[in-house]
Amino acid sequence: MRKPFIAGNWKMNTDSQSSTALASGLAENLKSVTTVDVAVCPPFVYLQSVAKALGDSGIAIGAQDVYFEGNGAFTGEISCEMLKDVCCTYVLCGHSERRHVIGECDELINTKLKAALAAGIKPILCVGELLEEREAEKTDEVVTDQTKKCLAGVSAEEMANVTIAYEPVWAIGTGKTATAGQAQEVHAMIRKLLAEIYDATVAENTRIQYGGSAKPGNTAELMANPDVDGLLVGGAGLKVDDFSAMINTVA
Ligand code: PGA
Repeated sequence: MRKPFIAGNWKMNTDSQSSTALASGLAENLKSVTTVDVAVCPPFVYLQSVAKALGDSGIAIGAQDVYFEGNGAFTGEISCEMLKDVCCTYVLCGHSERRHVIGECDELINTKLKAALAAGIKPILCVGELLEEREAEKTDEVVTDQTKKCLAGVSAEEMANVTIAYEPVWAIGTGKTATAGQAQEVHAMIRKLLAEIYDATVAENTRIQYGGSAKPGNTAELMANPDVDGLLVGGAGLKVDDFSAMINTVA
């Protein structure tokens, strides 16, 4: 039985005051939720203050990216050990904005994901197709290729700490959510792929989140799908009431 997992990706939003207010509001609203795993991924510079504001609410903290090297002359980068030092449990790997705005490739994402696992941080691997790829009926091919390349060298045991987030790029921040049917189709395909790469147990146990304009109004419908185990939430995750409502719907 996969426990639902909902994570908020704050992207490059908030400031010191609003990030703390958001975290405190969520901590207050969600402290009694035990049936859903909840995490927030604030910008690096607010990780510590957000962790403090979350207190013992049970809401975990994640980073939006990480670098694979341990330490040294890598100006501007942040290591896994640094993330652990500020209480990060999770890290996003290969978010579509890192792939398509910053230019990260599957090989780099794979290296980061493996570094996170080696350091004891749980990666959330993001995969998803562009609009033109969906229109060219290449969704399965693109998502399969990304998943295989990004999980190369990851063992079945390590998969216990990996979450996959299916985020169709055309649905991110656009208000266009994939229909429940579209999401289920790709999630089921990813689960089948995990059975092929690993085995039935890994396929059965791996949580697959949906991301892309998830909001209070479509949470129940998306989560009713047998292979949708959670959500990766951008815009709606920046509002205490919306994010709380989504988690309460699932709880
Ligand atoms: P969105 O972003 O919910 O604002 O579409 C989702 C994501 O990028 O993780």
